[in-house]
Amino acid sequence: MLPKTEPLPLIRPRRLRANEAIRALVRETVLDPADFIFPLFITHERSARKEISSMPGQFQIGLDHLPAELDSIISAGIRGVILFGIPSFKDSRGTESLGEEGIIPQAVRLIKKHAPELYVITDVCLCEYTDHGHCGPVLENGEVDNDATLELIARQAVVHARAGADMVAPSGMMDGMVAAIRAGLDREHFAGVPVMSYAVKYASAFYGPFRDAAESAPRFGDRRSYQMDPPNRREALREAALDVEEGADILMVKPALAYLDIIREVRDSFDLPVAAYNVSGEFAMVHAAAQKGWIDGERVMLEMLTAIKRAGADLILTYFAREAAQLAARNS
Ligand code: PBG
Repeated sequence: MLPKTEPLPLIRPRRLRANEAIRALVRETVLDPADFIFPLFITHERSARKEISSMPGQFQIGLDHLPAELDSIISAGIRGVILFGIPSFKDSRGTESLGEEGIIPQAVRLIKKHAPELYVITDVCLCEYTDHGHCGPVLENGEVDNDATLELIARQAVVHARAGADMVAPSGMMDGMVAAIRAGLDREHFAGVPVMSYAVKYASAFYGPFRDAAESAPRFGDRRSYQMDPPNRREALREAALDVEEGADILMVKPALAYLDIIREVRDSFDLPVAAYNVSGEFAMVHAAAQKGWIDGERVMLEMLTAIKRAGADLILTYFAREAAQLAARNS
């Protein structure tokens, strides 16, 4: 007969959840407003401040309103912004984005004058500046001309750096875009300006509201011949590895929520910082459901941002930055 033993005591993980003090002590992931980057849509209409209907609380902002906006962002505890431009004219090659007087260089100079401590990242792409809405000039057969685009975005990046941008973020998913921009910046003595690559950017339906905001929806076709196919995981690692070789300083995964597995995989596979873009559609869905009273918008927002960080993102680009930073400050 086996000797009689005491039954094992019940193991009780709930002990560490008993109250907020102990939960805070053992919490594994904590949001920090210093990790947030706030996207801003800057319009050439100086005195405009137009709310974007599909993105409640987000505005197309004219330069006249920018200083007040910056003050509010900074007082919420945000230290970084990423800029998107709505130019005064569009053409087939996105020429507006190549001039020193374009909307983005003007905005960067204004920000650096008004709030020099704010870290300014510029989105480098042509879709906001082309009349057809694609991310580069289009060939006769309807394809985006990869190599012609490289030359244009390298020039755009240099224009942004010359205006004072701290970092550039190419988002067009052209092959070789990081190498082209790195070479362009280095040639013009901007070796110190880092490149945050939209390395793993999927052809996603979650960008819908952004395209209203930036007035950048393609007039024909879609972006599936340059942005990635959502079902693919190995391809994400290949894209990220190429951008590392080309000299990227930060790797971005976009969108965030439907791609948390990809964020984790990129985080585990590379030692560069990983950014995640919590995109417009993710923002819009929370607002829409909260407006209907179907979810608690504030809690869902924090849960989403925490999940993105838990998946491995070091930086989060998010339209929730201001609200989330204010909440974090209130709770600490
Ligand atoms: C385009 C760009 C897009 C976003 C950021 N940069 C849109 C697109 O690829 O169509 C989307 C961001 C968002 O949805 O919040 N260069």
